[in-house]
Amino acid sequence: MSDLSTPLITTAHSLDGDSGSLADDVRDGFARPFKELPPKHLYDDRGSQLFDDICTLDEYYPTRTERAILEASAPEIAERTGGTELVELGSGTAAKTRVLLDAMQAAGNLQSYIPFDIADTVVRETAYAIGSEYPELGSVNGVVGDFEHHLHLIPPPPDDSPRVVALLGGTLGNFIPPGRHTLLRSIAGLLRPGDYALLGADLVKDPAVIEAAYNDSLGVTAEFNLNVLNVINRELDADFELDNFRHVAFFDTEQEWIEMRLRAERACQVQIRQLALEVIFEAGEEVRTEISAKFSPERMADDLSAAGLELVDMYTDEQDLYGLVLARPVADS
Ligand code: SAH
Ligand code: TRP
Repeated sequence: MSDLSTPLITTAHSLDGDSGSLADDVRDGFARPFKELPPKHLYDDRGSQLFDDICTLDEYYPTRTERAILEASAPEIAERTGGTELVELGSGTAAKTRVLLDAMQAAGNLQSYIPFDIADTVVRETAYAIGSEYPELGSVNGVVGDFEHHLHLIPPPPDDSPRVVALLGGTLGNFIPPGRHTLLRSIAGLLRPGDYALLGADLVKDPAVIEAAYNDSLGVTAEFNLNVLNVINRELDADFELDNFRHVAFFDTEQEWIEMRLRAERACQVQIRQLALEVIFEAGEEVRTEISAKFSPERMADDLSAAGLELVDMYTDEQDLYGLVLARPVADS
């Protein structure tokens, strides 16, 4: 390894002014008849911290369930994949990832880790922490970017030993179907024959359990959702008053996803000075900020095959709350 105390950090230079920038997303999203914002803007420093707090809540079952599944299955995953390189999209602080890294290391294969996230500080801190915790790692290369636009910043695999591309935490479910299909296809594009994808997928279940997970009694999720208005105030010089808005989460049984919205409690006008834009909210009007799709094994298999991937195995917990999906490129695609 070069120098483990200084992992490489690659940053997309086009986070502003590119398609997918906050300015474009706000301009487009607020111009729609049904206002909408993409979820990635929830994760500034404060939002990333709030998300970590969500992960520790009693009602938020996905994190502890995914961790338990990883603890039970990581040795087998390390064995089956023979993975030497772990690329992790939306790594966050990689809290659960350590379970997988431990297993890859125990199998004697671990060579490199590439945490990729839109949250700049989080990528840096995670890359440094993992670099120092896993001295056996030959390289740690953090990438700060948007995984819908900047996957090309991931360094090419150094040799033909197997790569595992992970997307944990149910993040795949945060995209409406067209975006989800595109993301799966671009993940497939990172894989060569012999490589694997590892996808965390929350499963369809009692809507009451799901709704509690996204509308916790302490109000942490509400604060996380409302924080996107702080981001817009700060980055685009806007004057949202957070007291005028309320967090709403409901399960859409037809689409099988939970939807998070911000509802204007009263009519209001907001100035977004940097865009020279005035946005009008009627009383009761809602902005969609996030969906989180819940999967059935069939839906997952269909989505994978549409992306040129095939299901190798789905590891679950005893109650079938959550699935950890191992997939690989279809041989002839
Ligand atoms: N993998 C972690 C975090 C999941 S939360 C876990 O399982 O707990 C989703 C993560 O994806 C956040 O860290 C967020 O910053 C990141 N993220 C969301 N949208 C993104 C995008 N478009 N590009 C890159 N990272 C994104
Ligand atoms: N990937 C997480 C999930 O779908 C993100 C998340 C958890 C989230 N709680 C949230 C996003 C609340 C917005 C609001 O479970």
